[in-house]
Amino acid sequence: MRWPASGGILFGGDYNPDQWPEEVWHEDVALMKVAGVNIVTLGVFAWSRLEPSPGQWDFAWLDRVSAILRPAEVLIDLATATASPPPWFARRHPDALPITASGQTLDVGSRGHYCPSSPAYRRAAGRLVRKLARRYSGADAPALWHVNNELGEKVVECFCPTSATAFRRWVQDRYRTLDRLNAAWGTDVWSQRYSAWDQIQPPRLGPGPLNPSQRLDYRRFSSDAHRECFELERAILRRYTPDVPVTTNFMGPLSEVRGGFFGGIDYWSLAPSVDVVADDSYPDPLDRLGHINAAMNFDLMRSLGRGRPWLLMEQAPGAMSWLPVNPGKPAGRLLLESMQAVARGADGIMFFQWRQARSGQEKFATGMLPHGGTRTQTWREIVSLGATLRAVGEVAGTTLSADVAILIDWESWWALELGDHPNNELTFGEVAFETYRALFELGVTVDFAKPAADLSRYRVVVAPNLYAVATETASHLERFVASGGTLVVGPFSGIVDENDQVHDGSYPGAFGDLLGLRIDSFWPHPTESWSIAFGAERSSARLWTDWIELEGASSVATIGSGPLDGRPAVTDHAVGLGRALYVGAFLDGDGWSSLFRGVLAAAGVHVPDGLAPGVEWTRRSGGGVTFDFFLNHADHEVRVTGVNGRDLVGGTELSGRLQLSPAGVAVVRSSLTETPVKREVHDRAPRRRGGSR
Ligand code: GLA
Repeated sequence: MRWPASGGILFGGDYNPDQWPEEVWHEDVALMKVAGVNIVTLGVFAWSRLEPSPGQWDFAWLDRVSAILRPAEVLIDLATATASPPPWFARRHPDALPITASGQTLDVGSRGHYCPSSPAYRRAAGRLVRKLARRYSGADAPALWHVNNELGEKVVECFCPTSATAFRRWVQDRYRTLDRLNAAWGTDVWSQRYSAWDQIQPPRLGPGPLNPSQRLDYRRFSSDAHRECFELERAILRRYTPDVPVTTNFMGPLSEVRGGFFGGIDYWSLAPSVDVVADDSYPDPLDRLGHINAAMNFDLMRSLGRGRPWLLMEQAPGAMSWLPVNPGKPAGRLLLESMQAVARGADGIMFFQWRQARSGQEKFATGMLPHGGTRTQTWREIVSLGATLRAVGEVAGTTLSADVAILIDWESWWALELGDHPNNELTFGEVAFETYRALFELGVTVDFAKPAADLSRYRVVVAPNLYAVATETASHLERFVASGGTLVVGPFSGIVDENDQVHDGSYPGAFGDLLGLRIDSFWPHPTESWSIAFGAERSSARLWTDWIELEGASSVATIGSGPLDGRPAVTDHAVGLGRALYVGAFLDGDGWSSLFRGVLAAAGVHVPDGLAPGVEWTRRSGGGVTFDFFLNHADHEVRVTGVNGRDLVGGTELSGRLQLSPAGVAVVRSSLTETPVKREVHDRAPRRRGGSR
């Protein structure tokens, strides 16, 4: 693994000196030292300053600011600045501007205004990256390269004529013959059979709904186009600076959306190309479950890097600026949110941005150094966070382990949300969030995994929704169960194949045998909730239920109201050495908890007993040492018992008891050979199968 050297936890933020007069730079770096900043992302949106007019370059300012940062031992994460082409580029290459499905051109004045398939954009970006990589190589090389910024943030799909040509090439590569394309897209429905490649267009607008298989391919094509842009830059950087790791910032919850993974790009396909997984996290400050959304995204980031430490590249030090109302962070939240990322495997904590801007669209997004300067609460908390990160520096390089994985598959997610479904309100993020939330509240650490991945290290695998699944992937999951795994499958899964065509036979075609049941019909209910009985425990389901006929499976929970009253809602089927459970309903969080408690116990997954509500616990370990993280998200003080070891945050020895104030954080170090730090979390049952990471 390549990691920008620092000997502890990285700490810093985006730094845009190009927006400030030079006399400010010295103050910036002096204050960075006060806060303990040891890395900055430099010049993310600086293309128009680096190349003020075509082929005219200006690196002098970058040289000068680097010459102040380096002696101060602030590492440089040098951005390639390709996310926002200068105005001259747009006027010279108007055909590189993105066009929406309805034909509107997105012009300069914001950012992200380029078509990812445009050869002109790729050439110009490549030229800039080559200039940067040549100049900043050898002794002048940065610690990390930062390609573009949040790929696909503004424009996921472009519908311009250049994209149309590139899409035609993409489908030709995928299908080779028009017959295969016509079969995969089911073009005999509504008379869409293509007789020549040049008839194929991006799915722009039509009088009615557009072909879903074609739309699904357009999502794939667009995701690939962004990945190609990344890989093009990376290849250049590798040539000139083979030893410098390369990253780009992935995105997490973009506020307001529960289960807010970024849907634009298939991160499973992009992640293997980055040396360091980096994430931007902006959970909704008004969502009382925002911390669960953030945790879910952090676990995804760790999983994208196959368990290696990752970097929280951006988060807000205070108020953001794009919500209708942008509240500040209550005291302590900055520490809590940062340490939550460390608790879930981050070895670097960074912010947008170092110094709050005076102009532009984001001038009210709080900086680490806000408009009010060093007299602000935010600044005080930043300085204190820097000290805390130094105090816990020895956790760097340690890892988490999980016995449970949640499956996420971008292609299936895209297919699920193409519309024209029994209930179009059923979204992947929401179902995934409910399953994750139940596991989070039980204190169980989970990884995320791709359905086709090697799952043998996990005892329990949950597929919240896997609407689209290839037959081979379904067989792969069957083998996981047959060899002793427990698989829990959520509603509307196994229905279509990779081309969005319904699997043969009864629903759920791909999973019917594995789950031991047949779905007679789907019973979505738009508004009312139905009650679901897990023995004596009651929970409820909204949006979705199925009419299930058991064919080998047994019923674990039943529908307790509505027209399907008395029919199975959750089923269990023994297959080989394992079990496959089906949840034929959009269960609320309590329902998932009832289910998971039994499933995890039966699979030998340890569930910490007695974690107070609102307390988050994780464990990082390595080199014979464990670090137990306790984070208090409740608005009152909590007490945790059975905790022994040194709290690196408070600097105290704990013998048995830990008090945490609201937003309180403890990182307790102990040796694996000592008594387990927490009565509730010791004694993980020996693994039945599979290896460990
Ligand atoms: C994103 C971007 C940043 C900034 C922040 C805060 O994460 O990467 O450049 O715009 O949002 O608004």
